[in-house]
Amino acid sequence: MGKGHKDKVAVITGAANGIGQAFAKRLAEDGVHIVIADVAPADDTIKHVQMAGRQALACKCDVTSENSVATMAADVQKKFGRCDILINCAGIFPQKSFEDMSFEEWRRVLSINLDSCFLVSSALVPGMKQRGWGRIVNMASSTLGSVVTGFVHYVASKGGIVGFTRALASELGPHGITVNAIAPGLTRSPGTLARAPRAGLASMDEEFAQVAQMQAIKRGEVPEDLVGTVSYLTSDDAAFITGQTLNVDGGRVRT
Ligand SMILES: NC(=O)c1ccc[n+]([C@@H]2O[C@H](COP(=O)([O-])OP(=O)(O)OC[C@H]3O[C@@H](n4cnc5c(N)ncnc54)[C@H](O)[C@@H]3O)[C@@H](O)[C@H]2O)c1
Repeated sequence: MGKGHKDKVAVITGAANGIGQAFAKRLAEDGVHIVIADVAPADDTIKHVQMAGRQALACKCDVTSENSVATMAADVQKKFGRCDILINCAGIFPQKSFEDMSFEEWRRVLSINLDSCFLVSSALVPGMKQRGWGRIVNMASSTLGSVVTGFVHYVASKGGIVGFTRALASELGPHGITVNAIAPGLTRSPGTLARAPRAGLASMDEEFAQVAQMQAIKRGEVPEDLVGTVSYLTSDDAAFITGQTLNVDGGRVRT
């Protein structure tokens, strides 16, 4: 059980799969009730949350749509009357060279990865402010600090998230709300496993192995490597940490 977690309510975007699902499972084990805000069906995540003895609410929510986010926030209010923790985890990472990238593709990545943080935070921060307690965790990426090609839109969106995290932390600190970000390395998830490997590599397994060699800890990253950090950052123990982006990437980025 995380300190201060019991019976808190967390909204996790993108929690139907991958890293978001692992966050839902861990926070439920910590004693938190979970709202899954995702465009995909969330049956698996609901099962994990219920097995941990917590309540789960799945909201079919497109995080790029103001209306969809407003409906989700109203459903959360109706079921739980509050949201204490927000994890902005929904994201996409399509691969495209800069020269082949259309403006539409650029906008889609910026919209799902970055606009979503604005929209969902805007909907849920007022309640946190009223109660004088809140935790927001956003998903950045180690790609910001490494050499990557084919992801200009993605890296730009994650850079935006780091700035958003710092700036929002300044405004919300006086209200008992912390805002931090986690920057994972290449992590096994349905999203990364469905991706084509980088040019010159035969499979994603090869890419995982290659990235592992760049890390201080030389094994592939899995979602479970990230859950302790989200648990800590959303607990009472992390009340004095805000505006930070924490690399959780086996030591790939060392600054
Ligand atoms: N996996 C990695 O290597 C890695 C590394 C660094 C950062 N991240 C970040 O972690 C987050 C989760 O990544 P993942 O690997 O678990 O991805 P994933 O593709 O496995 O899961 C992403 C989830 O987001 C949901 N989603 C996509 N668009 C949505 C929308 N418009 N509205 C609501 N939900 C939407 C999907 O349905 C899916 O359930 C992303 O923000 C990603 O950028 C991942």
